[in-house]
Amino acid sequence: MEVIVQKTPADMSRAAAREVANVLNAKPNAVLGMATGSTPLGLYQELVRLHKRGELDFSHVTTFNLDEYVGLPITHPQSYHQFMHENFFRHINIPPQNIHIPSGTTNNYPAFCAWYEQRIRDAGGIDLQILGIGSDGHIAFNEPGSSLSSRTRLKTLSKQTIDDNARFFERRDDVPVYAITMGVGTILDARRLVLVASGKGKAKAIAQAVEGPVTSMVTASAIQMHREATVIVDDAAAAGLEMRDYYEFIYAAKPSAPKS
Ligand code: F6R
Repeated sequence: MEVIVQKTPADMSRAAAREVANVLNAKPNAVLGMATGSTPLGLYQELVRLHKRGELDFSHVTTFNLDEYVGLPITHPQSYHQFMHENFFRHINIPPQNIHIPSGTTNNYPAFCAWYEQRIRDAGGIDLQILGIGSDGHIAFNEPGSSLSSRTRLKTLSKQTIDDNARFFERRDDVPVYAITMGVGTILDARRLVLVASGKGKAKAIAQAVEGPVTSMVTASAIQMHREATVIVDDAAAAGLEMRDYYEFIYAAKPSAPKS
């Protein structure tokens, strides 16, 4: 696993955007896995900026979002459909039919989840999956105790996640209790993972995910099992990393490493 420590959230976003841009430059029809939440906002802004400057083309890109709240119509201001359209899709040239976001209003969740998994396979699998991390260590909405080989399915949100996400809703009671989410196994199938985290509220979860044991109690720790995972954190989110100097040494030495 590569760990990149950047000074600020803006530096973190730019470093993550470079990872996405590298994938798109090598493969213009790449399949991207998308995350929502506050953390990737700067990354999306940076990708939009590169697109507006003519440096990134999304016309052949396909996307799959990690998750969606159950019960929120796609027009709800806090639905992840709205989030993605407002913050990213409407600013780039991705064909609407190439966008996939789990449905939070289907009348048959198991059938929808099986279809979503099949759509990912039909698209050739995810080339790069963007991830955030919850303060309880979740990736997507794989809450503590989620199987590390889980697939897309319905999950109950943890109390911690409901508390954390209450900031987006008028009242805590308005936060949906269930979500539809890609599983940890679905995420690990992606060819490359880029996890972003900023702020001191993520320091403990990052330390557990990167340096703790692989455990379903911190589902982000499962990325230790992935061969191409990059964790990009800002200074505050790196605060609990014991091996920080070592990661910085490796990153500084990277440009001079033999390429073949
Ligand atoms: C959202 C998602 C979640 C978030 C996590 C952190 O699609 O998958 O795992 O990444 O809850 O959210 P923020 O960035 O708002 O702290």
